[in-house]
Amino acid sequence: MGRLDGKVAIVTGAARGQGEAEARLFAAEGAKVVVADVLADEAAAVAADIGDAARAVTLDITDEAAWQQVVADTEEAWGPVTTLVNNAGILDFNAVDRYDADRFRTVLEVNVVGAFLGIKSVTPSMARSGNGSIVNISSNGGMEGLPFLSAYSTSKWALRGLSRSAAIELGRKGIRVNTVHPGGIDTPMTRFDGSDNSTSAFYQNLPIKRVGTVDDVAPVVLFLASDEAGYVTGAEYAVDGGHLAGDAAVLSQIPGA
Ligand SMILES: NC(=O)c1ccc[n+]([C@@H]2O[C@H](COP(=O)([O-])OP(=O)(O)OC[C@H]3O[C@@H](n4cnc5c(N)ncnc54)[C@H](O)[C@@H]3O)[C@@H](O)[C@H]2O)c1
Repeated sequence: MGRLDGKVAIVTGAARGQGEAEARLFAAEGAKVVVADVLADEAAAVAADIGDAARAVTLDITDEAAWQQVVADTEEAWGPVTTLVNNAGILDFNAVDRYDADRFRTVLEVNVVGAFLGIKSVTPSMARSGNGSIVNISSNGGMEGLPFLSAYSTSKWALRGLSRSAAIELGRKGIRVNTVHPGGIDTPMTRFDGSDNSTSAFYQNLPIKRVGTVDDVAPVVLFLASDEAGYVTGAEYAVDGGHLAGDAAVLSQIPGA
């Protein structure tokens, strides 16, 4: 018995990183999984490695017509979509007083409008399934400010408003909507210039003194996707080693601590 037996899932940004881990875990727990990404070759390789339970699709999440096609194709192949993980996202650094407005808009377009289009596109199919779960991958940056990441942080805060609003509207259609807020997770997104996250002082100062891994996040997403979370909607789950709890580095300043 898998925890997602009978589920039909779409995971965006599943060609690598956290999305790949979620797609693999979902399939291992009995779901059919669409591995959706703009990285066509990488998505195809992940789906092929998973096997018959997975299909790769090339999807730019900012393209509404492409979303409609993916949902229609998925339902034709496997039945109504039960599960959506809006995981795809982009990170972009710039100073708030020097940010090019079009670049700022692009971050919002991918990270917010892309997730909105996913919710909009899957809702009719999910409502037909009678039991849906949407998980939007926000960030610790959706609960605090991030210097030089103003567009990214803005987008991740916006996902909370989108998720809570959708949770209120879609509950009556049998659809739950929640957000997950990873902290620093060791993926291509955070390996700047080949940097080694395992030795970074930032992570050593967390309550849980290490960088997060994709295998820390995927089980939380799995829980929210599963029927075990049947009464959980409009909720926000931090998976950040305790970063949002407060500053663990201050412990070194307290005598006897
Ligand atoms: N890595 C972290 O520290 C961290 C922390 C908090 C939140 N997050 C969020 O987690 C999610 C996954 O990030 P990751 O760490 O696995 O990064 P990643 O860069 O490894 O993966 C992101 C994936 O999204 C895909 N993607 C980007 N734009 C797309 C588009 N327009 N359409 C379809 N696919 C697109 C990329 O091709 C890539 O495969 C993102 O939303 C990210 O913002 C990451």
